[in-house]
Amino acid sequence: MIPFLAPRLGLDLGTSKTSLVSGNKITYSEPTAMVADTRSKRVLYIGRSASERAGKLGAGSEMIRPVARGVIADYAATRFMLRKVFSQAMKSPMALRPMVAAAVPIKISSVHERALCDAAREAGAGKIYLVPCNLASYVAITGNMNDPRGSLIVDIGAGVTDISVIASNEIIVGRTLEFGGDDLTAMVQRLIEVNLGTASSREEAAQAKIKVGLQPRKGEKIYIRRMDTEGGSGLQEIEIPHVDLAAMLYKGLKPLADGLQAALEETPPELYEDIFFRGVILTGGGSLLKGLADYFQSRFQVKVNMSKEPELTAIRGVGRIVNDFSKFREFFNDRAAF
Ligand SMILES: Nc1ncnc2c1ncn2[C@@H]1O[C@H](COP(=O)(O)OP(=O)(O)OP(=O)(O)O)[C@@H](O)[C@H]1O
Ligand SMILES: [Mg+2]
Repeated sequence: MIPFLAPRLGLDLGTSKTSLVSGNKITYSEPTAMVADTRSKRVLYIGRSASERAGKLGAGSEMIRPVARGVIADYAATRFMLRKVFSQAMKSPMALRPMVAAAVPIKISSVHERALCDAAREAGAGKIYLVPCNLASYVAITGNMNDPRGSLIVDIGAGVTDISVIASNEIIVGRTLEFGGDDLTAMVQRLIEVNLGTASSREEAAQAKIKVGLQPRKGEKIYIRRMDTEGGSGLQEIEIPHVDLAAMLYKGLKPLADGLQAALEETPPELYEDIFFRGVILTGGGSLLKGLADYFQSRFQVKVNMSKEPELTAIRGVGRIVNDFSKFREFFNDRAAF
C-alpha cells in the first residue's frame, strides 16, 4: 500500500459519543450505543437510533455500550460499529485501506491500545496512529503544536477526564481520571431514588443535571413524571429540588477538583506562570455543566477558557492532524503506530 495515497480518517471513540472525520468534515457523530437481538446477537440498531431506544426495549433485545471509561469494553460490538462507520465514510468500496488517527485517553494501557488498533484494523483500517485526546484538542484550539508555552487542558468526557499540561508537543504532566459526566448523572439518579423514592432513567437524570448544574434558580422547577398509581389522576409530577441537586453536584465534583489540584502541583514553575496568564482550557461534553468554569475559577484563582462545541473539539483536532499529516508527522516518530 502507498500510504500517502490512502484515504485518511480521524476517529474519536468516546464512552458516550463516536465521531469520525473525513476530509474537513465530521461525517459521523452519534452515541456509542447499539441494540442487538438478545439471543442471536444480531445488531438491530447503531448510534442514535439505538440510544433513543434506551429503557424502551423488551426482553428480545438488549442495549450494548461498547466503550466504558474511554476504552473498549465489548470488542466484537466495537469492531462491528467501526466497520459500519468507516465504510459509510468511504464512498467507494475500501480499495485502499484508510490511514486512521484515533484520539485516546492519556493514560491508556497497552492492552487497550492494542484492542483499539486490532478492532480498527479488522474493521478495515490500514495504518493506525494514536493521539492523546488532549493533544488533539490542543491542536484544534491553537492550530499548532510547537508552542513552548505551557497550556493546561481538561477534557471532561462521559467516563473519563483527561488533564494535561502541554508544551512543545509534549505532555509534561498527564492524568486520566476514572470520572466523567456520567458519574454525575449516576449521582443524580441516586439522589432521586433516595430523596424522592422513585427510580429515574439515565436520560431523565442527565436532563436534570444539564438543566440545573451548579446554578440552582429560584422559581424554576424541574419535574419527573410518573403514572399516579394511587391517586388515579393519570400523570403525577414529582419535583426535584434545584438546591439539593446543585449541592450534590458540587460535592460530586471533588475527584475532578482534586485531579486538577494535583496536576497544578506537579506542573513545573516555569510552565505554571504560562498557565496562570493564559488560563486553563476546559473541553469535553462534561465541561458544559452550568457554573463549572466559575467554580474552577474561584477555587483555583486561575482564568478558565471554555472551548467551542467541546464535545467535538478532540475530533476536530484529530481531523487537522490527519489532513495535515506531514506537519504533524514528527510527533509520531517515537510514538505508537500500529
Ligand atoms: N450541558 C451539559 N451539562 C452537563 N453535562 C453535559 C452537558 N452536555 C453534555 N454533558 C455530559 O457530557 C458527557 C459526554 O461528553 P463527551 O461527548 O465529551 O464524552 P465522550 O468523549 O464520549 O466520553 P469519554 O471521553 O469519557 O470517553 C456526558 O456525561 C453528558 O451528560
Ligand atoms: Mg472524549
